[in-house]
Amino acid sequence: MQRLEALIALVTGAGNGIGRGIAHRFASEGAAVFVADVDGAAAEAVAQELRGEGRSATALTADVSRGQDVTAMFRAVASAHARLDVLVNNAGLNVRGDFRHLSDADWVKIREVNLDGVVRVARDGFELLRASGRGSLVNVASIMGHRGLRQLTAYSATKGAVAALTRGLAVEYAPFNIRVNTLSPGFVETALTGRVLRNPLVSKALIDQTPLRRFGTVEDMANAALFFASDESAFITGAELAVDGGMTAGL
Ligand SMILES: NC(=O)c1ccc[n+]([C@@H]2O[C@H](COP(=O)([O-])OP(=O)(O)OC[C@H]3O[C@@H](n4cnc5c(N)ncnc54)[C@H](O)[C@@H]3O)[C@@H](O)[C@H]2O)c1
Repeated sequence: MQRLEALIALVTGAGNGIGRGIAHRFASEGAAVFVADVDGAAAEAVAQELRGEGRSATALTADVSRGQDVTAMFRAVASAHARLDVLVNNAGLNVRGDFRHLSDADWVKIREVNLDGVVRVARDGFELLRASGRGSLVNVASIMGHRGLRQLTAYSATKGAVAALTRGLAVEYAPFNIRVNTLSPGFVETALTGRVLRNPLVSKALIDQTPLRRFGTVEDMANAALFFASDESAFITGAELAVDGGMTAGL
């Protein structure tokens, strides 16, 4: 028996990186997956990869920072299935820079996707998750929500807020048998981080601080998301799982 057999899942920001890895993992465990991304071509490419493997996948173009896009995204799910079993709030971005030079426009851009988008998706997805009777909402934050690093301060603030939001939602949504958990990746090589992690000095410094002495992979993140999505975590809500090779366990 597959771990997500007959379940319906939606992953935001699933056109690339960690979200794409989660979409693949969920589909391989039997879920019908909605692959949502602001980049519609990337979403369609992932959905085609999945269908090419004989999985059920539908691409949706949706910018989580736009209310009307999120409304249309859930309307598409509702008209196809009238319920959603697993919802992953994965879309996120960063604009690196020294905090003292942070422009209002950059702050709004980071916040609108990383926090406002997560709030909107968690709120507007509620009815479909409730209709599932066993909903699982997974919010992708970051270990940076608990740590400081130069040029990541604004990003860190949004990710810390996502972890706090998750705890509140876990309490509010529990009466509807919807579990809400945070997945906090450590450093994973994707388009978001690639340029920085390919810098040998930065890369060495980060790996030196990681007890398991490597970066994470999208598969590592997808395995953790699968745990939260499946009934193996049926008694876990409001939790935050750092998938970081032990980085935040050390000094
Ligand atoms: N890569 C890491 O090391 C790392 C570490 C900690 C947390 N994270 C978090 O993991 C999540 C995924 O990151 P990633 O590394 O895979 O990044 P990525 O840049 O590889 O992929 C992000 C995807 O999100 C999409 N996206 C961006 N803005 C969007 C919007 N407004 N609406 C819908 N989709 C949007 C992009 O088009 C892209 O397909 C993010 O929330 C990120 O903050 C990543």
